[in-house]
Amino acid sequence: MSITTADFRSKITTHILAEKKLNRERITALTAYDYATARLLDEAGIDVILVGDSLAQTVLGYESTLPVTVDEMLHHARAVRRAVKRAFLIVDMPFGSYHTGCRESLTNAVRFVKEGGAEAVKIEGGEKRVDLITKILNAEIPVCGHIGLTPQSVHKMGGYKVQGKSLPAIEELKRDAVALDRAGVCLLVLEGIPREVAAMITAEVEVPTIGIGAGPECDGQILVFHDLVNLTFAPPAKFVRRYADAGALIGDAVREYCADVKSGNFPSDGESYHLPKDSQASLAMAVGRRTVSKR
Ligand code: KIV
Repeated sequence: MSITTADFRSKITTHILAEKKLNRERITALTAYDYATARLLDEAGIDVILVGDSLAQTVLGYESTLPVTVDEMLHHARAVRRAVKRAFLIVDMPFGSYHTGCRESLTNAVRFVKEGGAEAVKIEGGEKRVDLITKILNAEIPVCGHIGLTPQSVHKMGGYKVQGKSLPAIEELKRDAVALDRAGVCLLVLEGIPREVAAMITAEVEVPTIGIGAGPECDGQILVFHDLVNLTFAPPAKFVRRYADAGALIGDAVREYCADVKSGNFPSDGESYHLPKDSQASLAMAVGRRTVSKR
């Protein structure tokens, strides 16, 4: 899909995302966790940037998304916010930040907007989150839903498994999607579900669906940036397409740099600062005098 000039002019908002679904224009989304990456994605014309709690794994090196805290998410969200001008910016509410009562959840959601510059917060879970989502929406904060394989429920799911494979599971997913749609979420992430189920949900709901491991019929797609460019250290999931091998590129660059430093090939004279000519002469004289007086 090519990016039009209009795409670059118009700041992406919830209204534009809704329009894109109506116009059958696919929505592009990626995660970002730092200023440089967010700036590159924004300038490349991505529609949605998610400061995902996947940063726990990709950036902080945890085994799962569970340990990352609100303060850690905010630290990264602020860096991304400083970079993003056009894309719609969503910040993930991490595990524990919306599970211990409405008041605390609402306080955390407000922090993501006020301190992190989020335009929406993302919350995992379906029907059971509707009351909370309604309260957050009533606080004027757009919410992105997330159903299917929800990584924060890894222990309950018994691992990172494709969801919605049996008829009762499909029915439940459909109920969840419809409940979130009626509640008024602005986007709905469908993760790790069969293509056919994602297609059915996408046709059923008004809210744009964003797939990750959910097939091509979703209204848009999201990938974890580190998967896209191979900055990960494990074999990729089936749904990941590698668009670049930044891991290999960085490894080669670092090896070449080390070799150049060791051989004296870096830095060159051209990469060094020089004294102005007259200072060079007086330095040479001063050094000369010192050498003579030491003898
Ligand atoms: O945290 C994340 O990166 C996500 C995406 C995978 C949707 O939630």
